[in-house]
Amino acid sequence: MQRTRVHNFSISLDGFAAGEPQSLETPFGHAGQRLHQWMIATRFWSEQGADGVDNAFALRHSDGIGAEIMGANKFGPPGWADDPNWRGWWGENPPFHTPVYVLTRHERPSLEMEGGNVFHFIKASPAEALATAKQAAGELDVRIGGGATVVRDFLAAGLIDHLHLVVVPIVLGRGARLWDGLEEIQDGFDVETVSSPSGVVHLTFTRSA
Ligand SMILES: NC(=O)c1ccc[n+]([C@@H]2O[C@H](COP(=O)([O-])OP(=O)(O)OC[C@H]3O[C@@H](n4cnc5c(N)ncnc54)[C@H](OP(=O)(O)O)[C@@H]3O)[C@@H](O)[C@H]2O)c1
Repeated sequence: MQRTRVHNFSISLDGFAAGEPQSLETPFGHAGQRLHQWMIATRFWSEQGADGVDNAFALRHSDGIGAEIMGANKFGPPGWADDPNWRGWWGENPPFHTPVYVLTRHERPSLEMEGGNVFHFIKASPAEALATAKQAAGELDVRIGGGATVVRDFLAAGLIDHLHLVVVPIVLGRGARLWDGLEEIQDGFDVETVSSPSGVVHLTFTRSA
């Protein structure tokens, strides 16, 4: 069965997936790289990286994924839609290697890049976007890539089958928060927790049968 999955989604203890303000110079605002330091230290990220618990989780990001859906604020800093030359953060060969659907009010022609990356810019409800992405993914799964707003909207709509969160032991106090409006969201999921020696805690929410 085709599933809708979130992977490596990193939040602070108080539930923020990015700090503020988001900008070209500070994509994660005052959080800097602290939310993703655990991942940058893995072999998933670089050949010199570590091969422990964090790497085992990180690797699942790409396994069996045929399309990604992301929010406008993941694709670029505020104002990117006014720059016709903005092509995302990731260089000419982004790390997705599938069709990517960018949810935005600012639609533009699709952008084909190296490595099988094709970005489509669509204004659609979560359910509509997911139907489109599922079709593009064939028999593979669809990843919801973030940020917090998009993951929250897909959770609220009951569209997520598997959510991998990484809780990083920092308190950000402000930014883009995941949990708002999701009271009792854990109902309907089997929740498992793994503590990593690195200090982060991996949580998986898997939709109950
Ligand atoms: N911690 C992590 O693991 C992680 C993962 C991914 C990203 N991030 C970070 O999270 C931040 C972005 O998160 P965010 O919550 O601010 O924003 P986001 O979820 O990336 O994007 C939200 C924006 O997408 C557009 N959008 C969302 N749903 C839409 C729909 N149904 N139709 C049309 N447009 C829609 C709207 O932008 P417009 O109205 O402007 O078009 C909305 O403001 C960035 O800093 C990013 O780097 C963190």
